[in-house]
Amino acid sequence: MCGIVGYAGSRPATPILVRALRDLEYRGYDSAGIAILGSADGEGVEITKRVGKIANLESALDASPGSEATTGIGHTRWATHGRPSDLNAHPHTSCGGEVVVIHNGIVENYAALRSALIARGHAFASETDTETIAHLLEERTKSGLSLLESLRLTIAELEGSHAIVAMSPSEPGAIVAARVGNAGGVVIGYGEGEMLVASDLAAILPHTQQVAFLAGLQLARVDRSGASFINGDGSAAAVEPRRVPIDPVSALKGQYEHFMLKEIMEQPEALSDTIRSLVTLEPAGVHLDDLGPISERLSEVRRVILIGMGTSLHAAMVGRAFIERLAGVPAETDNASEFRYRDPVIGAGTLVVSVSQSGETVDVLEAMAVAKAKGAMQVTICNTEGAQTTRVADGTVYTRAGLERGVASTKCFTTAMVALYALALRLGEANGHLGPGQLGDHIQDLARLPDAAARVLQDHAPYKTLANHFYDARHFLFLGRGLAFPVAMEGALKLKEISYIHAEGYAAGEMKHGPIALIDRGFPTVAVAPAHALRSKLISNVEQIQARGGEVLAIASEGDQEVAALANHAVFIPAVSEFVEPFVATLPLQCLSYYIALRRGCDVDQPRNLAKTVTVE
Ligand code: M6R
Repeated sequence: MCGIVGYAGSRPATPILVRALRDLEYRGYDSAGIAILGSADGEGVEITKRVGKIANLESALDASPGSEATTGIGHTRWATHGRPSDLNAHPHTSCGGEVVVIHNGIVENYAALRSALIARGHAFASETDTETIAHLLEERTKSGLSLLESLRLTIAELEGSHAIVAMSPSEPGAIVAARVGNAGGVVIGYGEGEMLVASDLAAILPHTQQVAFLAGLQLARVDRSGASFINGDGSAAAVEPRRVPIDPVSALKGQYEHFMLKEIMEQPEALSDTIRSLVTLEPAGVHLDDLGPISERLSEVRRVILIGMGTSLHAAMVGRAFIERLAGVPAETDNASEFRYRDPVIGAGTLVVSVSQSGETVDVLEAMAVAKAKGAMQVTICNTEGAQTTRVADGTVYTRAGLERGVASTKCFTTAMVALYALALRLGEANGHLGPGQLGDHIQDLARLPDAAARVLQDHAPYKTLANHFYDARHFLFLGRGLAFPVAMEGALKLKEISYIHAEGYAAGEMKHGPIALIDRGFPTVAVAPAHALRSKLISNVEQIQARGGEVLAIASEGDQEVAALANHAVFIPAVSEFVEPFVATLPLQCLSYYIALRRGCDVDQPRNLAKTVTVE
């Protein structure tokens, strides 16, 4: 889940690489580094790398003489093998300095490769698995092979999934790249007299929207005049560039202090864009244009398995309820990292729905590969045009949230739920579970959602006050029932990931079976208790907590004085339909986490140990 970029053109490479690393920093920020071909003296490779965030790399670059070199590669690291340090930072080079490499993935057999290389006389400078790739490449380029051919032969020796980019002074102006498996994508950007290579679109879009994606076992060689592609067996690969429709301006933070706040505030618009792209009001209809062959097969669906990780798994849990209730089809959710290893039973009529905002999460991709091998129909919910999941699934329901940069997912959670709502409606329509009148009512409900979301986000004063009150709590319990249960899980995840406060999300009914032992004044509970979410049952849970001296913050529907009177604090959300409640109940929890993290002085957009896209196991 590291960020990778390469530039071959006619402009100085260093500022382009550094800017790209800023755009990729969300993928990892344990260290950052660049290598340029042609040092300040005009020869060889010059590597600058520093542990920590990009700012450290920038300071180091400021202190060294500027270079006009026009070819280079850069990397921002999320550490796997080897602790974060200057030495372990990428790029890595071989002992002879013949080759320089950046890498995303894990060389699973690196220990054996390293021992063999040492036995052949190689000396290692770092503790990383990546350095083995540089040494293996150097052995081959020294024997006279081209860099691309050396890379092709080297990847055959590596176990695991990888994205690898390399360059060599022996091939000035050129960069080679390989993608092996699902560890991470490789995108090639076509500029005017310049080419880029990157792990994802964020680094490319400021320069060009004309891009090509490498598939599972493909390699590319780029120089300023263009790109050529081969497959792992050495044959020519047909990889065609295409234009991707993402506005680079949306990547900016704008008026907001943090991407997370910006993205929270963008939700009314993101919801509206997603809803408008999937449904029409008059006549009432659901239009899932990217479903492909699945649109004709929806009536065959007898069982749905929804998979995802983290926030996307929570969206999947809401989707499960939508599908059961609206389409009458048995549905279950599974953590993709469990699903991929448990040899799941997939009979005829099974539809696997994967949820992934990035479309690059390795566990989701591997779970999809398992589902595919077992013959499941597959639909993916994704926010990234052309992402890997969309190329594996039979059909896609795209969310229209725009780029999400904060590591903590916000707008991609709520828009994924919209996509799942639309998919459930379409399934219910196709199998006759849902009558035309009901479909119209649900679409009307959805149409009211952006406005309700905007109302929740209008006034941040209550969240700031609550943050001031709760910021030094050490633990939190989040409770919900029915559709509010995944919302509670998501509330707990948001809080723990950005504020480092321990938080647990529980089905409220489970509380009496253990968690209640934890309750005391210093262990506050957030009760997600809107009007429809088995409210009366949840009220009993709140009473039980109160009876044990616990402090309760309730998320309640407008005008619900009974819940407000029981709780110590209440945040009201607009009264909306049952299926729209999870959306509006989520927003106060996102705001609460944000302001608590802010009050605690945490790095909201780049929480420690995390990365936006998890492309390693
Ligand atoms: O890109 P994905 O939706 O597949 O990412 C899955 C999780 O890594 C992600 O949802 C993660 O849990 C969130 N960033 C947490 O806010």
